[in-house]
Amino acid sequence: MQHWIAPSILSADFAKLGEEIGAVLDAGADIIHFDVMDNHYVPNLTIGPLVLQSLRSSGIDCYMDVHLMVKPVDRLIGDFVEAGADLISIHPESTEHLHRTLSLIRDGGAKAGIVFNPATSLSALEQAIKLVDLVLIMSVNPGFGGQAFIPSSLAKLKQARQRIDESGRDIRLEIDGGIKADNIADAARAGADTFVAGSAIFGSDDYAATIKTMRRALDETLAI
Ligand code: DX5
Ligand code: ZN
Repeated sequence: MQHWIAPSILSADFAKLGEEIGAVLDAGADIIHFDVMDNHYVPNLTIGPLVLQSLRSSGIDCYMDVHLMVKPVDRLIGDFVEAGADLISIHPESTEHLHRTLSLIRDGGAKAGIVFNPATSLSALEQAIKLVDLVLIMSVNPGFGGQAFIPSSLAKLKQARQRIDESGRDIRLEIDGGIKADNIADAARAGADTFVAGSAIFGSDDYAATIKTMRRALDETLAI
């Protein structure tokens, strides 16, 4: 599967969000990662469906990877589908009825993702794998950008990669948290194909140079 670099707008300048998204897309990003936090499921508060809708109305038509860190989550799914989400990821801990929540996303016409926190086992995947288009492994505890990558996430990625391959289904494997140019290749070798990076990209002076360095590190893993 082709490698996708997904800048997280959590670290963008929110006063000029549309421009920031345009800039990272021009700089070579494949998709945009849109972090939604509610100060309940996670201890931070970000943006909601109205912001996504405004971005769409302003002409931003890239693939939007919406990561919901909100509880309860079901009520917001329809709003994000309507606003123009391509994929919506949810945490099993944020719903009482995982099957229903994943079905709501897919029935609405978006792709569905399931997210595993650092201390959450992959056991829910056994039943959910038929309902997902993406598995997201958190390599930090969700809530903030700029945290350090948790090394045990690499073993978890390998496990997830194995389960995805065994399923024979077309499922992307994403890693989120603490991804930089110097560890992105490790994540790729462990099986990830989609790489969220917030502070590493938006915190750099030259988005294009940073994304290019990441892409080169990823391409080298394919050459081996
Ligand atoms: C954390 C978010 C991440 C975050 C990543 O809860 O889900 O997407 O923005 O930021 P960095 O790349 O700075 O760790
Ligand atoms: Zn995220």
